[in-house]
Amino acid sequence: MGVPALIVAAGSGQRLGAGGPKALVRVAGRPLYAWSVEAFRKASQIDRIYVAVPPGHIGSFTEPGIVTVEGGETRSHSVANGLEAIRAEGSPGMVVVHDAARPMVSPALIDAAVIGLEGDEELHALIAAAPMTDTVKRLGDDGVVIETLDRSALVSVQTPQVFRVEVLERAIADGDLAAATDDAALIEAAGGSVGVIESPSGNIKVTVPSDLDLAALLLERNR
Ligand code: CTP
Ligand code: MG
Repeated sequence: MGVPALIVAAGSGQRLGAGGPKALVRVAGRPLYAWSVEAFRKASQIDRIYVAVPPGHIGSFTEPGIVTVEGGETRSHSVANGLEAIRAEGSPGMVVVHDAARPMVSPALIDAAVIGLEGDEELHALIAAAPMTDTVKRLGDDGVVIETLDRSALVSVQTPQVFRVEVLERAIADGDLAAATDDAALIEAAGGSVGVIESPSGNIKVTVPSDLDLAALLLERNR
């Protein structure tokens, strides 16, 4: 049996500033979220695709074969709502969470992440991450550099992220949802064990308008 996927698409896209939900902005001929839906449809480890959508826009999410769920106030609340819908229909052991804002995700990465978590009993989650390429520095309150961090020990975290459902449910129930920028942070805070799977730097997140131009170029090139 396959693993359910939850694509979170309920954000408003303030930084993109498109005047409507970011997930519905057209890029390379389709709404942004549809590219992620297609990748999950092609992934052999996935059986159902849930999409957390902005309340009031459910009717605009018309990709075939998806189950729509109303998102929440923060990303973590959207994940919580999606997880509740998934649990209402069954008891899967794992779930894959992905940002609709990452249209370049590949079926191969999704499958590798699922198989990776399945094969490692020690881990509660396995998350996509890319090695850091920039030099990273820590600043003081005055905005002046305190130190340069050891880049070899740092990664830039992306999605997809695969979780053991029971562990994620518990972390969401006990965690500070408003503060978490990803669900793995909730697991870490609860003392869980989170592994990383290397993902390509091309798995970009569309955040600001220039990201949209880059995503369009990359998606057209891959077509
Ligand atoms: N997300 C969500 N529910 C929220 C907030 C975010 O499902 N309440 C989703 C977004 O739709 C996106 C992903 O989480 O796919 C990553 O969030 P981000 O890139 O920050 O998107 P937005 O929150 O929409 O953008 P912004 O922060 O600029 O408003
Ligand atoms: Mg946001």
